[in-house]
Amino acid sequence: MPMSARLSVNINKVALIRNARGSNLPDLVRVALDCERFGAQGITVHPRPDERHVRYGDIPLLKRAVTEEFNIEGNPNPRFLQLVLANGPDQCTLVPDAPDALTSDTGWDTFTKRDFLTDVIAELKSAGIRTSIFLDPDPNMVEGAMRVGADRIELYTGEYAKRYHTDRNKAIEAFVETAEAADAAGLGINAGHDLNLENLAFFQQKIPHLLEVSIGHAIIADALYYGLHNTIQMYLQKLS
Ligand code: PXP
Repeated sequence: MPMSARLSVNINKVALIRNARGSNLPDLVRVALDCERFGAQGITVHPRPDERHVRYGDIPLLKRAVTEEFNIEGNPNPRFLQLVLANGPDQCTLVPDAPDALTSDTGWDTFTKRDFLTDVIAELKSAGIRTSIFLDPDPNMVEGAMRVGADRIELYTGEYAKRYHTDRNKAIEAFVETAEAADAAGLGINAGHDLNLENLAFFQQKIPHLLEVSIGHAIIADALYYGLHNTIQMYLQKLS
C-alpha cells in the first residue's frame, strides 16, 4: 500500500494577518507549534523580498521552535540564500517567483537556468539541506531537474486545481506523466498550490509516490469554519 504524503502546513497567511496590525497577534511561532500538535508533519514558510507575509526575522525563531520538517521556499536571490544557509532548514524549495508576484505561478525552466540552479543546489547540498525545485507538470523539465542535482521536484498544482471540476482525469494527466518521469530519474515528488479538501485525495491517489504536499491558503480559509485542529485532521484524513 502506498504511503501517505506528508502534510506541511504553509503558515504565510497567518503572518499576513499578523502583519495587518503591527502587533504579534496571531503569534506565528505558537501557530506553527499548534499546527504540529494538531498533526502537521511539516511547517513551510515562503519569505518574499517585501516581507508581506513571513518576515526574514521570523525564520530563526521558527527554526528553533519547529520540531517537524522545516521547509523554506522562495526565489534563491542572495539574501534568501543567506537566510536559508544561516538557518539550516530540512528542505529548501526553490521557486522562480518574481519579487512582486502575487503568488508562485510557474515552475523553473531547468534548461535555461541550468548553471544557476546547479550552483545554488550545490551550495545548499554542501550545507546538508535537501533541495526541491518547483516544476510545471512537464516531463521534459525533469531531466533538467536531475542534471542540476535536485533531490526532489515540487509539482506546481495550480492548473490541476483550476481544471479539477471540469475534468479531473484530464487535469491530472500531465502530473502523472511528470511524476513517472521524476520517479524514473530517482527524484522525490512533492506538490503544492491550490490543493484543498476537494482536490487533494484524488491527486494523492493518482500520484502514488507523492512524498509531501505543502498547503497554506485553503487550510487557513477552512480553519475559519472548522478551526485549525479539525482542519488539519481533515486534510490528514484526505491523505490517508
Ligand atoms: N508551494 C509553493 C512553492 C508556494 O509558493 C505556495 C504558496 O506560497 C504553496 C506551495 C502553497 O500554496 P497554497 O497557499 O495555494 O496552498
